[in-house]
Amino acid sequence: MSGIKLLGTGSAVPSKVVTNDDLAKIVDTNDEWISTRTGIRSRRYCAEGESHTSLCLAAARQALERSGVKPEEVGVCIVATLTPDYLTPAAACLLQRELGLSEDTVCFDLNAACSGFVYALHTAECLLAAAPRKYGLVLGAEVLSRITDFSDRGTCVLFGDGVGAAVVEWRAGYPSLHAVLGCRGNDEVLYAPGVHSDRPSYIHMDGQPVFRFAVEAVPRCAREVLSKAGLGLEDVDRFVFHQANQRIIDFAVKKLGIDPAKCTGNIEHTGNTSAASVPLLLDELITGGELRSGQRALCVGFGGGLTWAGALLELA
Ligand code: UT7
Repeated sequence: MSGIKLLGTGSAVPSKVVTNDDLAKIVDTNDEWISTRTGIRSRRYCAEGESHTSLCLAAARQALERSGVKPEEVGVCIVATLTPDYLTPAAACLLQRELGLSEDTVCFDLNAACSGFVYALHTAECLLAAAPRKYGLVLGAEVLSRITDFSDRGTCVLFGDGVGAAVVEWRAGYPSLHAVLGCRGNDEVLYAPGVHSDRPSYIHMDGQPVFRFAVEAVPRCAREVLSKAGLGLEDVDRFVFHQANQRIIDFAVKKLGIDPAKCTGNIEHTGNTSAASVPLLLDELITGGELRSGQRALCVGFGGGLTWAGALLELA
């Protein structure tokens, strides 16, 4: 058996807090609808002087510092994102320069939408097995406010900006993530056109089919990870599900028959931050003392693609 453990996390959220009441001033919505249908009360947006790059740098520095890992010890750096500042250079390449990672560090961005961070964790686990240096820096980073259509009340109330970072270490003898990744190609119910498309580059989502997909995918993926690991639901200390909608999480909790206290989230003050959602929650749980050394977190992401990804992450 070989795999990765989580050494430390970091996070960075922009300074501007946007409440449901703030959004009600620009679209036909209200706090009651948003909070009861989604669980969201506020989210953060990048303001002047804040960017994808600046948030990535802050979160990565914090994760490295808390892990006691030096930049030159990192072998792989992956940023999961669909909203980088540049299509090229990758956000990970900018981190290489700003953090002073070695030039032979494998640096790239990965787009698996809201499943991106878990896709990136698994990718890092595979790459670190072959890398000369066994520490990985993995980020989930989004500035979704840049691709939000503020005339569409069905989507603009959902999204937020933020970055979560994790430092992992690969060792022979460490447990595998037992990752389960998947995709069911679909560009109809959830998509954000690229810059060369003749359609506007905003996020488009047909909420109900995506909701139905999510409530099926999350429990299925969680069970598949555990079956691969030969473990049961009782062996999991924390369930860290993508924060897309509190009702999706409540459905998954019920379907799996797990204790809701092991599945608390942060959607109330983050909104849906896509690839950043799982690492932001991991960081919040760890800094709040709710997830500790030696414990296991079952992380599940789902969303655009349509993709899903689950992994069992143990804290060193
Ligand atoms: O992160 C990637 C994965 N994403 C997801 O997993 C999201 C999955 N989908 C969802 O979470 C939910 O479908 C939404 C939160 C997006 C929407 O909730 P819903 O319960 O599915 O609402 P709906 O789209 O069926 O709309 C119900 C009603 C409609 O009005 P009528 O036609 O019944 O009169 C909408 O026009 O609510 C209306 N509505 C709103 N009303 C006030 C839609 N958005 C709003 C709004 N404020 N912001």
